[in-house]
This record gives sequence, C-alpha cells and structure tokens, in this order.
Amino acid sequence: MKGIYKDIQETISWIKHKTNHFTPEFGIILGTGLSNLTDQIEISYAIDYADIPHFPVSTVKSHKGQLILGMFEGRKVVAMAGRFHYYEGYSMKQLTFPVRVMKFLGISLLFVSNAAGGLSQHIQTGDLVIIRDHINLMPEHPLRGQNDSKLGTRFPDLLHTYDKEMIQKALDIARKNNIRCHAGVYVAVQGPNLETPAEYRYMNRIGGDIVGMSTVPEIIVAKHMDLKVFAMSVCTDMGYPFEAIKVTTEDDVIEVARSAEPKMTTIVRGIIKDYKLL
Ligand code: HPA
Repeated sequence: MKGIYKDIQETISWIKHKTNHFTPEFGIILGTGLSNLTDQIEISYAIDYADIPHFPVSTVKSHKGQLILGMFEGRKVVAMAGRFHYYEGYSMKQLTFPVRVMKFLGISLLFVSNAAGGLSQHIQTGDLVIIRDHINLMPEHPLRGQNDSKLGTRFPDLLHTYDKEMIQKALDIARKNNIRCHAGVYVAVQGPNLETPAEYRYMNRIGGDIVGMSTVPEIIVAKHMDLKVFAMSVCTDMGYPFEAIKVTTEDDVIEVARSAEPKMTTIVRGIIKDYKLL
C-alpha cells in the first residue's frame, strides 16, 4: 500500500480544485452497456479519466471513461461512466483506486452495476439480479500487501457486505414496476473468456446465481473503507442449464445490457430518492 494514501490525497485535491469542491453523497459505478444512466444526471462536471492524476484509463469499447459529478434525484452524485477490469491488465490496486477516491470525495454509499451470465434456470436474459452475497474466484486481491490503517482494517469482515434493507427496497421497487428481478449470489472470475458449460455448472453447484468479471474488487475495497454498498447485475446471457447456453459476443452482452438499463435506472432512482444519510 506504500504511497496510495498520498496518491489519493493528490487526486482529491486536483478534483476538488477542478469542481469547486463538489461533495457527492453517492458513488455510482456503471458497468458494460450500462453507462446511459449518466444521461439522467444533471451534469455539473465531466472529467476524462485520462486527465485525472493517478487514474487508470479504460480500454473497453462500451465504456465512456469519464468521471461525472452532478445531480440525480436532487442528490449530489459522482458516477464512473466506465470501469476498470482485471482482465485489461490493471492491478487490483489500480482498478479499485477510483473507489478510494470517491470515498475521500465524501460518498457514504456506493452503487455498483455490471453485466453478468446467469447460473440458474430462474434467471433469464434481461433479468436484473440484486447482489446479496458473492463468491470471489479472482486470482488476486486488492488488499494484498501492507495495510494502511488510514484506509481501513487489516482483516475486513464481509458478513454484512450487502445491505439487507436496500436489497428488500430494490425488490419492492422492481415488483411495483413489473420488473423481473431476483436477489442472488455473484461469482467473480478473472475472464476474459466466458465460461465453459462445465464451469457454469460448477458455479451453479457452489451456490452462484450469476457470474461476471468485475464488481467484487470494488466492493471489497468499499467495505475496507466502511462504505455502504448496493450492487446489481443485468443477466446478459444464460450459462445454466446447459440447453440455454448460446454463443455470446461482446456486442450481444452490450445490447442486452443497454436494453435492460432503464430498469436498472428505475431501481437506483427509487433507492436514492428515499435514502437518508446517516
Ligand atoms: N460470464 C462471465 N462474465 C460475463 C458473462 C458470462 O457469461 N456475461 C457477461 N459477463
């Protein structure tokens, strides 16, 4: 962790200077095909990642690569249009750096979204899945190495990672709006290949409902710094049962995620609207 605290402070003072000390209450990370939520934000500042000191730069085609600060549902938010993935070659520390920055900008709640493969016959393409727990199968860990106690504890406890009240609230909003939505367990893998049928079946058997290549590193780092988190997936392809698996391209994933995006926005909007800061 050597130096990371200093890097965060440098990035924070640069952003604060650029944004006239804009202090967001919520952070939002938008996943593959899901960055149109930014169209609903009254944007005060949009900053290219490439301009932000110490920020990594996104390489995935569906990601815009901008930090957006503005108003959403009358609340101050900071949103990442485009996130960083381990499979792109970043270290876990690099790809979770923006979460640290959002924390120090002032957020107390982080929303995370992603596109993911389904691991259950109940979860169909286009369905939303609110993450209620995760299984981390990624090969590296963002907290490996010396711990900086200014950021968090050496051994974070993940028992109450996903806030039960917010999960319930999300399911209620979905029901009221006729949105197909489940609560489920997210399995995090490195990628970049999608899984073999045998791997999908294995992940179903170990208790997974959806599988994807992101989110868990960011969630772990958020919990390390005591942030509240809310995470949700759009199921973009079915990995289980075997008969439901189809050849899936990146464009397929983006297309399904884009068309499900308004449903996700409805849920995030509903949660933010009623959320009382501690
Ligand atoms: N597996 C892993 N990651 C994914 C998938 C999948 O089937 N779909 C979208 N992201």
